[in-house]
Amino acid sequence: MSTSRRGFLRGLVGAGAGAAAAGLPGCAPDISPAPVLDAQKESDGTVILQVARYPDLTKEGGAVTLRVPGEQPLLVMHTAEKGANEYKVVSAICTHSGCPLGFQDGEAICPCHLSRFSTDGKVTQAPAKAPLTKYEASFDGVLLTIDFAAGEEGFPSVQNGKIFFPFSSFPELQTAGGRVQGVPEGYGKLIFVFALEGGAYAAVDSLCTHQQCPVSYDESAGDLLCPCHNSRFTKTGDVTRGPDPSGAITIGPLKKFTATSDATGVTLTIS
Ligand code: FES
Ligand code: FES
Repeated sequence: MSTSRRGFLRGLVGAGAGAAAAGLPGCAPDISPAPVLDAQKESDGTVILQVARYPDLTKEGGAVTLRVPGEQPLLVMHTAEKGANEYKVVSAICTHSGCPLGFQDGEAICPCHLSRFSTDGKVTQAPAKAPLTKYEASFDGVLLTIDFAAGEEGFPSVQNGKIFFPFSSFPELQTAGGRVQGVPEGYGKLIFVFALEGGAYAAVDSLCTHQQCPVSYDESAGDLLCPCHNSRFTKTGDVTRGPDPSGAITIGPLKKFTATSDATGVTLTIS
């Protein structure tokens, strides 16, 4: 496993991060990258790690970058807390410009321009503005379980491959321009649902197709913006601006969900 910062950055997320690493400030401290660990999801959407097998996780202050097929890389941190909260898990890609994060002095730190994040993903030092995505994790003293399917309380969950948004609970979807966003239980990632003109609906996933940073809704422009390299997407998920102004890098649309409505609400088909 490489201990070189620039080598690590290139290896984890490709040329984009390598270019960012090339612009590291000369005076930046040598922040140790979290070593990479590959794992597979169980059928219930969890990843289970036997902590004793990974020296970087057994020691307090240690961390790994967890790669799971189809998911954004995660930073798994062994904090000073005890018990089930001993481990915290957040997305491993800095929301400023897409560099992979390290863990030092109890915070996630970006080696590129030194943004810092709490172990809950909140920004504690700019230039990053957007928080990291936080993941549910529990530890029983032996096994660490990371839940990729956990949802937000009060947000509809996936039932038989569908999510239903009743108008009685989500009246904003009855007006063109209305929007609902949240993390459904059973899907585990932020989604957006938009009420369009003419009674149509659009629903998209939040993971940018460039390097999996989460996009957010830009009120002023009325579209979705990726904070990592400024890609933009319409409410229907189509790309209007890629990560490279020269157009040399092309990316695909956001993942789209079929959305239908009746007199009672809006239904998304997730699978
Ligand atoms: S990429 Fe700039 S602070 Fe992380
Ligand atoms: S991750 Fe690069 S533009 Fe979104």
